[in-house]
Amino acid sequence: MDASFLLAFFLFGLTTLGTLSTTLEARAFFVFGDSLADNGNNNYLATTARADFPPYGIDHPTHQPTGRFSNGLNIPDIISENLGAEPTLPYLSPELRGRKLLVGANFASAGVGILNDTGIQFANIIRMSGQLLYFEQYQQRVSSLIGQAQTKQLVNQALVLITLGGNDFVNNYFWRLYELGARRVLVTGTGPLGCAPANLAKRSLNGDCDPEMQTAADQFNALLVQTLNELNSQFGSDIFISADPFRTHMDFISDPEAYGFVTSKVACCGQGPYNGLGLCTVASNLCANRSLHAFWDAFHPTERANRIIVSQFMTGSAEYMNPMNLSTILAMDART
Ligand SMILES: *[C@@H]1O[C@H](CO)[C@@H](O)[C@H](O)[C@H]1NC(C)=O
Ligand SMILES: *[C@@H]1O[C@H](CO)[C@@H](O)[C@H](O)[C@H]1NC(C)=O
Ligand SMILES: *[C@@H]1O[C@H](CO)[C@@H](O)[C@H](O)[C@H]1NC(C)=O
Repeated sequence: MDASFLLAFFLFGLTTLGTLSTTLEARAFFVFGDSLADNGNNNYLATTARADFPPYGIDHPTHQPTGRFSNGLNIPDIISENLGAEPTLPYLSPELRGRKLLVGANFASAGVGILNDTGIQFANIIRMSGQLLYFEQYQQRVSSLIGQAQTKQLVNQALVLITLGGNDFVNNYFWRLYELGARRVLVTGTGPLGCAPANLAKRSLNGDCDPEMQTAADQFNALLVQTLNELNSQFGSDIFISADPFRTHMDFISDPEAYGFVTSKVACCGQGPYNGLGLCTVASNLCANRSLHAFWDAFHPTERANRIIVSQFMTGSAEYMNPMNLSTILAMDART
């Protein structure tokens, strides 16, 4: 296993009935995880796990690299859009202060997890435990701004996304997030790792997805759903929601044309077979129209693929979203 390309967790505040008075439009959003979710924290770290150079960001509204591992927007950005909120800032960004803190924060750091984003072992990234410590620190900072009770409420009601690679989901993290106030957790399992261009380049002779990695991803997702169901019964509430990006991805990998892609095998940016070798840099091949590719680089989806993934989070059937999709959750919480 070596591709941390699809595993997203997310969670958000508010279980049963709570002391809520702030409007749901103002729901904060917290993001944890890996390169699928990092929107620039690693820019501030001495690490090679970064995407702050061209052509990353080529289709971002600023057309500048931002640290997102995407041609444009990433999964958290599109979730923010769906919430009607502005995108969260990286926790390490100096701009994250004052009122901006109330929007939420992104703690994700590319390279976390047991899966290697680019096949390199990364130093100086923010591991999951570090992201949780920052979340505590964040709450202290917000407390000094709006007081402890309001902060608790903000966190309880917030939506939180986590994307993690492979086995890095540890029960402890879920418990810790609960302790820190998270009250709804949507966890997405891993995508079809064996189909990422990096793995096609390394392991596939004929362009078929690597069956061993596919089986591993499938088993991981099944275990994740089971773990989350157990946690929900312990908490007596649907706090954890699992999303199955394996299914979502397989839909457009098995039938890319149906989704308007010309290929789900060849990355837009890269080199070698399937553009799946090495990093995406200015020296790489670059496709003309990013919307026609499911994969942006050897591991990460394009913005358009990210939009398909998030639309499944929002409105997917029970096959994709267990026990329910995010639209249903938002509607339920709005009624509370
Ligand atoms: C990650 O990459 C390093 C260096 O290439 C390798 O030694 C390690 O086994 C890889 N880990 C996984 C889980 O693939
Ligand atoms: C890229 O492809 C999409 C989907 O076919 C199309 O709508 C769009 O116009 C294309 N963009 C460019 C710049 O050709
Ligand atoms: C979300 O899930 C519910 C329950 O499974 C389903 O009825 C609905 O069609 C899905 N989509 C939307 C937009 O709610």
